[in-house]
Amino acid sequence: MSVLIKGGRIITATDDYVGDIFIEGEKIISIGKQLNVNADTVIDAKDKLVFPGGIDPHVHLEMPFMGTFSSDTYETGTRAALYGGTTMVIDFILQKQGHSLNEALTEWRSRADNNCVGDYSFHMAVTDYNDETKKEIKHIVDEGITSFKTFMAYKGALMITDNQMIGLMEEVKEQGGLVNVHATNGDVIDYLVQKFKDEGKTAPIYHYLSQPEITEAEASSRFADMANYTGCPAYIVHLTCEGALNAVRNATRRNQRVFVETCIQYLVLDASLYENDFEGAKWVMSPPLREKKDAATLWAGINQGLVNVVATDHCPFMWEQKLLGRNDFSKIPNGHPAIENRMELLYSEGVAKGKISLNKFVEVACTNPAKIFGMFPQKGTVAIGSDADIVIFDPNAKHKISASSHHMNVDYSAYEGWELTGKVNTVLLRGKIVIDNNKCLVEKGYGKFIKRKRHALNNSFTS
Ligand code: URP
Ligand code: ZN
Ligand code: ZN
Repeated sequence: MSVLIKGGRIITATDDYVGDIFIEGEKIISIGKQLNVNADTVIDAKDKLVFPGGIDPHVHLEMPFMGTFSSDTYETGTRAALYGGTTMVIDFILQKQGHSLNEALTEWRSRADNNCVGDYSFHMAVTDYNDETKKEIKHIVDEGITSFKTFMAYKGALMITDNQMIGLMEEVKEQGGLVNVHATNGDVIDYLVQKFKDEGKTAPIYHYLSQPEITEAEASSRFADMANYTGCPAYIVHLTCEGALNAVRNATRRNQRVFVETCIQYLVLDASLYENDFEGAKWVMSPPLREKKDAATLWAGINQGLVNVVATDHCPFMWEQKLLGRNDFSKIPNGHPAIENRMELLYSEGVAKGKISLNKFVEVACTNPAKIFGMFPQKGTVAIGSDADIVIFDPNAKHKISASSHHMNVDYSAYEGWELTGKVNTVLLRGKIVIDNNKCLVEKGYGKFIKRKRHALNNSFTS
């Protein structure tokens, strides 16, 4: 099968030109001006943007969490991602404390394999680092899972100690991997949660008040220090605020590099949403939404090259699941849905409103995730030899977000009624048209597990 995409405005992290793309099988074969080739399918992309498929490196599908499961399956979540122009996701395997990494790997692959519509990979969340876990790290890296997630919060379930963090960093560095972190101070948060509960304060706003900026700034700084000491490549997930970004900024003063991810919600929403009584549960996530000044810091951080990735932390729960915390904010399942909205929100709020350039948009939503997580140039760019993961996008189309039309398996939208500029028209994944005119043309099982390179061997991260 061959496809010719004709006359689109091709955008990568560095380029911007009008041209044709010729695809054969799963790969991009040639790119040029008015290519003289025959193809089985020709797509007219005149007046459209043509950019790489998005990569969302932070999603939680069918995840067992807080006594329930996130509501998107591997099928519904990866399909919704495709509708929104995200052709690949990285999900999280959670080691159960007292159990092995291998058990968790088997369990998660049995849920995901043959069920994904779009491409996928995993981070391995290490929740119990000990002598046995240490021996398993090399094997996990050999399986193509080269990033290891840690939690400095969720005590008693996912959190590890600094002692374990240092040990893990040393081993992951040795094996050529990268450590990523949920950086908030779990002990301080637990103290504040208990204090509010003792005072009879149960509304969602107390979730926000129990995770003040300082809890994130302190943990980010501590994590950066441990990474600096061990020399382990380090990545902070869902960074939300000025204090935490300044901790990373400080680390650059000693020539350290810490990769930073923020999520779309921290750029476009703020904590005033928690004032709406229990309605605020829709946005109960950790870390919580912050202040407008923090969003401004994050947009600036993207342009300064300090914030490298915009993900979602997609972790949807049905409203009925959110009601588990009706009388106790600490029981509201943490997370919100955005896997389908990320690219269009970032374009509309970022590019169309003049906050970031088109090249930056591609860099943080497609290229940097591929580079940092060992998939570049197979993924994350439009180039000869790359996988033909391509989005054809109408930059002028206007549309509204609504739970009544989205494809995520969740019965509300965190962005209900938002009017966006720019819409995904057509999506190709490995050369196949998977989305066209708001229809998905592939079934579950099309999505492929992507083996990732070791971070140490990944010399492609240059910007
Ligand atoms: O609220 C969130 N973020 N839920 C998912 C788990 C996590 O901390 O990433
Ligand atoms: Zn987290
Ligand atoms: Zn998460």
